[in-house]
Amino acid sequence: MKVGVLTGGGDCPGLNAVIRAVVRKGERVYGDELIGFRDGWKGPIEGLTMPLDVERCRGLLPKGGTILGSSRTNPYKVDGGVDRLKANLAELGVDALIAIGGEDTLGVAHRLTSEGVPVVGVPKTIDNDLNGTEVTFGFHTAVQIATDAIDRLHTTAESHDRVLVCEVMGRHAGWIATYAGIAGGAAEVLVPEIAFDIDEVCDFLKRRHESGRFASIVVVAEGAQPKAGTMVLQSGEVDAFGHARLGGIGLVLAEEIEKRTGFETRVTVLGHVQRGGTPTAFDRVLATRFGVAAIDAVHEGAFGQMVALQAGAIVRVSLEEAVGQLKTVDTHLVEVAEVFFG
Ligand code: F6P
Repeated sequence: MKVGVLTGGGDCPGLNAVIRAVVRKGERVYGDELIGFRDGWKGPIEGLTMPLDVERCRGLLPKGGTILGSSRTNPYKVDGGVDRLKANLAELGVDALIAIGGEDTLGVAHRLTSEGVPVVGVPKTIDNDLNGTEVTFGFHTAVQIATDAIDRLHTTAESHDRVLVCEVMGRHAGWIATYAGIAGGAAEVLVPEIAFDIDEVCDFLKRRHESGRFASIVVVAEGAQPKAGTMVLQSGEVDAFGHARLGGIGLVLAEEIEKRTGFETRVTVLGHVQRGGTPTAFDRVLATRFGVAAIDAVHEGAFGQMVALQAGAIVRVSLEEAVGQLKTVDTHLVEVAEVFFG
């Protein structure tokens, strides 16, 4: 078979490990020809390709980013995008596509499958918010990076009696914030799922400082929202999938905390550092398992399906289920974090 591979959305540690696994099993076990599409869905729309084979994938396993490049191109928002994509696949003789991405990339995969394009999905996102899989690759690495950063912030917070706000990624779901907050011993974790009350946040911090514990780490997910009418946030640019470019809540929050408590408060925005560099061992293994399972799915004709992790096993779920709703943070996990607030 001739199998195309693409990576879409934000880059994520483990993408190259998936590509390597697809290529290895595809070429060596199935005798496939693999072809890489560049820059997400832009590749098949514009016919941007690169050859993929075992030799080209040597040394890829620990490398962050994606050798295929990525973009947030949405074929349904590009003039004639879907027709051009189908024509290019036909012209290149591509029998099936493996799309590695998050809710947006796989949302497109789902729509294309219903129009007869044979696609298998692989769940990627540091945000861990894709439904149908217990975890996405990249999440573990992001949590480790955020936890390391929080550990380092603790020493400054303690030495200077400061409140340190740490803004992490998480557009719609606070998985990174909650995991890193628990792992890093945060005094507050603010997530998009629960609108926060700035008065309550400040009361917790005051109580903590009254009892002689000065250093406070507040972890805030970039998509966290204050209760209506309590704080003003800026609105940002919007991408091809209609998502606002986030980032900035940490600064507003730090200013507000300092104003309301009188405690010196600083902010650290981790930003793309969380998506950068080498994947953890967990993510390398998960990405490799997903890649192997994806090429198997192609050969079993499991189009419209996404490989997923459930109870430690690799399974398949429909793309419809995967993109139908977001997987938000488990309330029980938030309750664990809350035990340590204030
Ligand atoms: O979807 C993954 C993610 O890292 C989100 O957490 C974040 O909101 C977004 O991508 C940022 O994307 P970009 O790098 O395109 O601004």
